[in-house]
Amino acid sequence: MRKHSPSPFLLLLLCTLFSSSLSTASDTLTPDSPLSDGDTIVSAKGTFVLGFFAPNPNSNNRYVGIWYNKFKVSVRTYVWVANRNDPLVNITGTLSLTANGTLVIIANNSAVVVWSSTGSSTVANPVAQILDDGNFVVKDAKDQFVAWQSFGHPTDTLLPGMKLGWNLTSGLNRNLTAWTSPTDPSSSPYTMAIDILGDPQLILWSGSTRTWRGGPWNGARFSGIPEMKTYSMFTFQFVQNQEEVYYTFGLKDPSIISQLIVNQTGSTQRLVWLDQPRQWNVFWHAPKDQCDVVSPCGPMGVCNPDDSPICDCVQGFVPKNPTNWALRDGTDGCTRKTPLDCRNGTDGFVLVSEAKLPDTSSSTVDMSLSLDQCRAKCLGNCSCTGYANAYVNGTGCIIWTTQLTDLRVWAFGGQDLYVRVAAADLSPTMEQSHHSGIVATIIAIAAALGIVLLLSVACFVCEMRRKKRVEFTSASFTNPYNYQDTDSKDLDLPLYDLTTIVAATDNFSATNKLGEGGFGPVFMGTLEDGQQIAVKRLAKTSVQGRTEFMNEIELIAKLQHRNLVRLLGCCIHGEEKMLIYEFMPNRSLDVFLFDRTKCTLLDWKMRYEMIMGIARGLLYLHQDSRFRIIHRDLKASNILLDKEMNPKISDFGIARIFGEDETQANTRKVVGTYGYMSPEYAMDGAFSVKSDVFSFGVLVLEIVSGKKNRGVYFVKADLNLLGHAWSLWKQGSSLELVDESIIPKYSADEALRCIKVGLLCVQERPEDRPAMSSVVLMLGSGSALLPQPKQPGFISTKGPFEYSSSTSQQASYSLNEISLTMCEGR
Ligand SMILES: *[C@@H]1O[C@H](CO)[C@@H](O)[C@H](O)[C@H]1NC(C)=O
Ligand SMILES: *[C@@H]1O[C@H](CO)[C@@H](O)[C@H](O)[C@H]1NC(C)=O
Ligand SMILES: *[C@@H]1O[C@H](CO)[C@@H](O)[C@H](O)[C@H]1NC(C)=O
Ligand SMILES: *[C@@H]1O[C@H](CO)[C@@H](O)[C@H](O)[C@H]1NC(C)=O
Ligand SMILES: *[C@@H]1O[C@H](CO)[C@@H](O)[C@H](O)[C@H]1NC(C)=O
Ligand SMILES: *[C@@H]1O[C@H](CO)[C@@H](O)[C@H](O)[C@H]1NC(C)=O
Ligand SMILES: *[C@@H]1O[C@H](CO)[C@@H](O)[C@H](O)[C@H]1NC(C)=O
Ligand SMILES: *[C@@H]1O[C@H](CO)[C@@H](O)[C@H](O)[C@H]1NC(C)=O
Ligand SMILES: *[C@@H]1O[C@H](CO)[C@@H](O)[C@H](O)[C@H]1NC(C)=O
Repeated sequence: MRKHSPSPFLLLLLCTLFSSSLSTASDTLTPDSPLSDGDTIVSAKGTFVLGFFAPNPNSNNRYVGIWYNKFKVSVRTYVWVANRNDPLVNITGTLSLTANGTLVIIANNSAVVVWSSTGSSTVANPVAQILDDGNFVVKDAKDQFVAWQSFGHPTDTLLPGMKLGWNLTSGLNRNLTAWTSPTDPSSSPYTMAIDILGDPQLILWSGSTRTWRGGPWNGARFSGIPEMKTYSMFTFQFVQNQEEVYYTFGLKDPSIISQLIVNQTGSTQRLVWLDQPRQWNVFWHAPKDQCDVVSPCGPMGVCNPDDSPICDCVQGFVPKNPTNWALRDGTDGCTRKTPLDCRNGTDGFVLVSEAKLPDTSSSTVDMSLSLDQCRAKCLGNCSCTGYANAYVNGTGCIIWTTQLTDLRVWAFGGQDLYVRVAAADLSPTMEQSHHSGIVATIIAIAAALGIVLLLSVACFVCEMRRKKRVEFTSASFTNPYNYQDTDSKDLDLPLYDLTTIVAATDNFSATNKLGEGGFGPVFMGTLEDGQQIAVKRLAKTSVQGRTEFMNEIELIAKLQHRNLVRLLGCCIHGEEKMLIYEFMPNRSLDVFLFDRTKCTLLDWKMRYEMIMGIARGLLYLHQDSRFRIIHRDLKASNILLDKEMNPKISDFGIARIFGEDETQANTRKVVGTYGYMSPEYAMDGAFSVKSDVFSFGVLVLEIVSGKKNRGVYFVKADLNLLGHAWSLWKQGSSLELVDESIIPKYSADEALRCIKVGLLCVQERPEDRPAMSSVVLMLGSGSALLPQPKQPGFISTKGPFEYSSSTSQQASYSLNEISLTMCEGR
């Protein structure tokens, strides 16, 4: 028999294992055992390594620094450099600990001290030790008193547990300063620091110029980083007291490796290490958009990157320099239309919602005041220009007494800001508030009331004659929930009158229009009591009469599930039929999913929970409710999002209102949206719960990929998302479908499962598709147990309309946004 000799590879492996196991013994440095060039010490659990390094192969500059052990992070990443500005040039050196506890780097041949730890206290029995969080500390071996620590002198990296900010007692300012280049750790002009002028703010500097303002802490996050709202795997802390002001972060899952850095081109990045494919992933970065440069729209200007031009003035203000403003230079800002009238006390405030708080370096904060007290305090000080809650949870008061600069708005995660304006600028309708005007208004109102009263009395008399049972009280003038029809006694759905709805939606004004759904436009409205509602004005094509309509509405109102939008009531007036829903502040899923910036707000966890939520809502409609409801128009724009971004299916059951029979069969009218319709439904008008399952599958693939089914994103232009997903699936590279913005962490297992379930749902033959009950089960189980999907229906962008155009059918549709109604010419 041949004798096995160990391969060189095995030897190497043994050596590395051996040396790494030794590291537990060598995490400390004592005065007797200095660290010479070439040696390293490793933290107890082996996460960090301290040693000498030469970042530039073309120069002999040597530094002492800390980096991740390659078993944790295989790409060499330095997190701290001791002598960043004092390299050892052309010589080797030694890191030693003096008898009084000072760390020094000494050049070997000259005994010159090139670097020493500053701000260190004297200790009697010093030891230096690298801890497993990356902190290199000098402490007294006996009483553990820490004399010096590397966390007190950051380089360009903030690790979990490290403090960014101030020790106000000692004046120690811990900030992050970028390396000059990848091979030169010397300080560049780019620094991120906590500025303690006024209300402390996070600021990125280039020399003495501010390049980005992260803004003040608002109790939950920095006002300039709304994305922090969605970060579920981090914990953030901002401490502000007499002694200290600092920011720090932690990770809920200790196996995740993340750091905050300032990079060499002056951006700040939050990086997260990916074991697969072994690289750092940029989780977040700033500055991001045009509004992120400091104050692009000047004092009293508001920046909105989604607008064009990006600058606008706060209501009540006009551009100060209209010429430059028109040429898209907003830096001069805006000036008041009407001067403030402080002593008469008639000033008011306009609300800027979803705002990033303006520069707070000269603002004052009083945490003991409520918002009302804050308003009063602002009105009481003639130099006050605006106020806001200091914290997003509605506590504290922050007041500005200077012009408001660097104001911008977000789509999501901002705060309410109140800007002081003269009474005349408060609202466009109150512009002429002369006495004559007021008198005229009063007369007009009185006249209108008189007419209404007269008509009511007339009606009252008529009604009394016709139906004795009807009760008519004066409450009907004010109570929006008043029932008009007492015939249907068990009607427990409020019937709103048209005037209430007209008032709430400002006569269906275009500014209140939220969108156009398949069954008619949707408007936002505010009832007299302040409740926000969404009003769906049904298209007049509904074939039902009033009684049928009411029956259907009652049925829909009885469907209650946390993933269904709640119907609050309805309004019928002649031909006009409206449905009143709860208002969803975050609009619909498509708004986020298909927008390249907003989609970053949807991390994997949220997306996964959305998929689960939608599945549960649909299961309820199909099976768990007392009535089997087939949605027939499930799509991203019909998934509304509440404050907490919970998905709620809308528009369910409306198809029934349009007078179609409720079981399978073929219908005369096809209602649905191109891209979400199953083949059998689009072609033959045959619908069943399995057509909804198909739409659900499309939706799942859209949520995972962040792309529309109908979009020209793919290499093979004639493939739609289904075709693309299917071809990736066949190649075994399904994860390529995952939205690149779901960084840094998504569960590959969950994503694969969702893709597989999505593909199972879009299979060509309805009978192959799983029922929603199976879908919910599959989403919650391991992907290995799922059946193999067959080819989906409609994998090409060439849809069913080649078919429809060759027949006598007429189709009217608009891509994606609007549902389609297709009638057979009979
Ligand atoms: C270091 O060595 C290089 C060549 O080896 C030389 O050009 C350079 O001047 C030296 N620098 C110092 C500071 O001695
Ligand atoms: C530097 O000096 C230390 C102690 O004086 C010695 O152990 C080490 O070998 C020297 N290193 C070099 C590269 O000369
Ligand atoms: C510690 O000793 C070094 C010289 O060995 C001296 O330069 C330094 O000032 C001392 N530090 C303190 C805090 O006494
Ligand atoms: C701040 O610095 C002072 C003086 O160096 C020190 O006594 C105090 O412990 C420091 N405070 C904190 C919270 O580290
Ligand atoms: C960063 O910290 C250093 C050292 O404390 C300080 O000198 C510098 O002024 C700070 N920079 C900023 C922008 O705060
Ligand atoms: C608001 O948040 C702060 C800090 O997180 C907390 O101390 C305070 O109790 C909160 N107030 C309310 C009303 O939730
Ligand atoms: C710095 O970060 C920004 C934003 O992530 C990035 O675009 C840029 O390429 C980075 N620069 C370097 C040198 O990595
Ligand atoms: C107060 O209002 C009156 C009437 O509008 C006006 O004439 C007067 O100038 C105002 N006073 C101040 C101090 O602005
Ligand atoms: C108004 O507020 C500013 C800033 O807080 C303060 O300096 C000033 O004294 C206040 N004026 C009055 C009249 O309270």
